[in-house]
Amino acid sequence: MPTTASNTESATLIERMGLKPGHATIVGLQWGDEGKGKVVDMLAAEFDAVARYNGGANAGHTVVVGDEKYALHLMPSGILYPGKVNVLGNGVVIDPEQLVKEITGLRERGLTIDPATLFISSRAHVVLPYHKTQDRLQEAAYTMPNALDQVVEGIGTTGRGIGPCYADKALRSTAVRMADLADLESLRHQLHRIVPIKNATLKALCEYTGETHEPINADALLDWIKPLADILVPHLADTAGLLHKVGDEDKRILFEGANATLLDIDHGTYPYVTSSNCSSLGAHTGTGVPGHAVGNVIGIVKAYQTRVGGGPMPTELNDATGDRIREVGREFGTTTGRPRRCGWIDLVALRYTARVSGATAVCVMLLDVLADLPELKLCTGYRVDGKAYDGYPATSEELAKVEPVYETLPGFAGPVDGCKSIAELPESARAYLDFIADYLGVPVVLASVGPKRDQSAVR
Ligand code: GDP
Ligand code: IMO
Ligand code: MG
Repeated sequence: MPTTASNTESATLIERMGLKPGHATIVGLQWGDEGKGKVVDMLAAEFDAVARYNGGANAGHTVVVGDEKYALHLMPSGILYPGKVNVLGNGVVIDPEQLVKEITGLRERGLTIDPATLFISSRAHVVLPYHKTQDRLQEAAYTMPNALDQVVEGIGTTGRGIGPCYADKALRSTAVRMADLADLESLRHQLHRIVPIKNATLKALCEYTGETHEPINADALLDWIKPLADILVPHLADTAGLLHKVGDEDKRILFEGANATLLDIDHGTYPYVTSSNCSSLGAHTGTGVPGHAVGNVIGIVKAYQTRVGGGPMPTELNDATGDRIREVGREFGTTTGRPRRCGWIDLVALRYTARVSGATAVCVMLLDVLADLPELKLCTGYRVDGKAYDGYPATSEELAKVEPVYETLPGFAGPVDGCKSIAELPESARAYLDFIADYLGVPVVLASVGPKRDQSAVR
């Protein structure tokens, strides 16, 4: 069972991190897997509510409590603290089977998850099994050689049906929302309208790709949903209204972002992105709480850089150093198990994402992974055709052309996982953090030195 930190410890963390009063958003500033889950879990101790605002089961947030490891995909990472208000906001896309699996799994591990602690937005959209089929077929179709013999790199989605579900949300006529699960007779009619359209779409994709799939049967789909709806419907709520009330009572909300700013559908490295606004900007559309109400945006940054799936990554290391980082950092996906591409920290990208997400503080995670490397490189500029590149490229084609310009700093010796404050870290590790803070113009308020809650060097 997870333990609750004492009030003194909780107050200390918020004070030591130098947060302003009020709400805070936790947002990834790279391509995901920065360690957001760990920071949300740590801060949840002193916040009253945790609200997840975007994404779906494509996310994988690992939280380690003592010797227990939790891999959360949909559940807000605050769920491990008893008595908090946990919200899945309207911006989240919910795979009901996956959510029920997580609820059941957490209950089996002794956690109380009931309608008084988990609130699901009636406005959130539902990921159905055919979305996953469509995700797979769409990816296969996209990478098919075409009449001009062009072969493109796939987006490398997680296959969790995220893109097709958000696409249906935008299309409206083929969408199913959580509220629809509360009236199964009406849902039956809705599915009989949607399923023929889906079958036509999937059939066309199969004809094009040579893949196969079993046609969907609307009644069988309804039978599949029923037991899941029984479990989830009691949790449905007007979550925007609920969060407004929490704010009115001067309680604090932690907004939890999934995925990351470079994967944001509008501001990320399109088209190699996910299908939601995962930057901190999505916290507001994804929950119904306006921007001016949130004074803290905590950008989560890995001490290096990783990426899963397709798309350019200027600082990628296809060498022994990259392999070492992957091994020491255990850089294999929580959701798909895929090896993550590893490289040096990219400060050009971070300056851009810190601005887009409006980061007021930064946590540098997995610093321990870099221990004992002889030197550390930080990308401080891009060059194209020998000329300095200004800003951050809007297209992946342009990003693929840039050459990173590096600053090299001395490495630091490990182990560092016993350091409880930044002041206790070796001098070269502090110099590395100072360089990041100076470049971004945002303070580094926490350096994470291991997966556990207490393996954290706070300011
Ligand atoms: P998220 O998606 O941003 O929540 O991050 P993930 O959970 O996908 O990936 C981060 C991984 O690093 C997880 O396995 C964490 O347990 C682990 N982790 C988090 N912080 C640290 C750290 O400071 N050091 C080490 N070695 N591992 C960490
Ligand atoms: P967390 O919350 C890392 C990546 C996928 C793929 C692209 C699109 O754990 O940081 P999708 O299935 O969303 O359509 O895939 O986005 N991706 C992530 N990469 N961490 C994540 O989440 C991700 N969520 C999506 O690998 O390249
Ligand atoms: Mg992850």
